[in-house]
Amino acid sequence: MQIRQISAAERTATMFPLQAYAWLPSPTTSADEEAKHRANAPFFETTTMLVAEADGDTLACAASLPMRQNVRGRVLEMAGIASVTSRPEARRQGVIRQLLERLLRQVREEGAAVSALYPFRPSFYARFGYVGIPRVRVARFTPASLGDLLRRDLPGEVRRWSGAEAFDDYDALVHRLLGERHGFAVFDEKRTGVLRQEPVWIALARAGGEVVGGLRYRIDQHGGDLIASNLFSTGPLGRALLLQFLARHVDQVATIELLTGADELPELWGTDMTVTVTGTVENPRRNAPMVRVLDVPALAGSEVGSGSVTVAVTGDELTGGVWQLGADDGRLTVKPGGTPSVTLTAAGFSALVYGVLDATEVFTRGLGELEPALDTLFPRRIPYLFADF
Ligand SMILES: CC(C)(COP(=O)(O)OP(=O)(O)OC[C@H]1O[C@@H](n2cnc3c(N)ncnc32)[C@H](O)[C@@H]1OP(=O)(O)O)[C@@H](O)C(=O)NCCC(=O)NCCS
Repeated sequence: MQIRQISAAERTATMFPLQAYAWLPSPTTSADEEAKHRANAPFFETTTMLVAEADGDTLACAASLPMRQNVRGRVLEMAGIASVTSRPEARRQGVIRQLLERLLRQVREEGAAVSALYPFRPSFYARFGYVGIPRVRVARFTPASLGDLLRRDLPGEVRRWSGAEAFDDYDALVHRLLGERHGFAVFDEKRTGVLRQEPVWIALARAGGEVVGGLRYRIDQHGGDLIASNLFSTGPLGRALLLQFLARHVDQVATIELLTGADELPELWGTDMTVTVTGTVENPRRNAPMVRVLDVPALAGSEVGSGSVTVAVTGDELTGGVWQLGADDGRLTVKPGGTPSVTLTAAGFSALVYGVLDATEVFTRGLGELEPALDTLFPRRIPYLFADF
């Protein structure tokens, strides 16, 4: 077996048969699907794609999308792992292990400091040092819930645009939030092109001459649902402007559905809110993302608490070693070496960095030893990874 990197042009001939078998109805996969896959090739020109081959057959594939993610206030290069597939004849023989290990090593050498993915089964990726973070929440409510906002005179305005017209302003808002919101991640320009093509409305809220909120949405039918993606805003005013705009659909749609970060409280958005907030995780189809650190020194400068602790990260080629971690005016410092007071797995270390587990949970989950000083250095923070890939 050999592993080689392929170009975007080779993607359909090598990866499509594996991907179609894994994720599409078969054996009746339509020719349209293959044509769609081929047409998307330009969006994958910057993606790192590896295939494992033997005797001219593709046995398995895995890809890494170049992305950027805010981790505790620092925007880092992120590897968005996708298309992890092997053909059934080749499964359970360690092919994906070889492919993923090589892929993670390569993208780290090329500058990726962290990685994220959506697992079909988290325990599979736990073997590769990943740990779970929250899935976006779905808030489903009636427009009448927001009735009191209709009468508010808010300092700003909302306009509705076609997806293509407002894409650049919307994208600029997302990039502004990338710098501000822990966990936010964006694709590079190539891949963002896919979103530009989607037939959606975009509502943009402006106040004081700047964009303060954005919402991509569609309406399925009169009296039906208004289905939106993430409610993005720079703060409560932008959010209120967008909610007021949604409230004006009271006689048009029965229900509004949108996505929010796991730390949002939609029941507080209006006085009469009738709302259901769900965060369903059902593997393999509806997954919460997983993340991991690939490069420990690259985390230096991220926003942390106080104190210092020397950790040994074990069982991981990429982050393994002894690291002296400290805080300089609330910014993480990293130095190799020293005498460790605690041993962590790569997943345990990543959980602390991303702020999703505290030191006791890392211990109870079997991801490392107990060291309370880790709580002071890495206070809990809820990441908001909205990008789906
Ligand atoms: C998931 C999939 C890629 C695994 O491929 P594979 O070639 O069998 O993987 P490997 O043999 O290299 O196994 C890697 C490790 O995961 C373990 N593993 C394999 N399948 C597993 C599963 N379903 N659940 C948990 N662990 C699993 C193996 O035991 C091995 O562990 P080890 O290296 O620590 O001993 C393959 O089953 C597949 O293509 N499934 C359909 C598509 C899919 O769901 N892809 C994942 C998208 S997120």
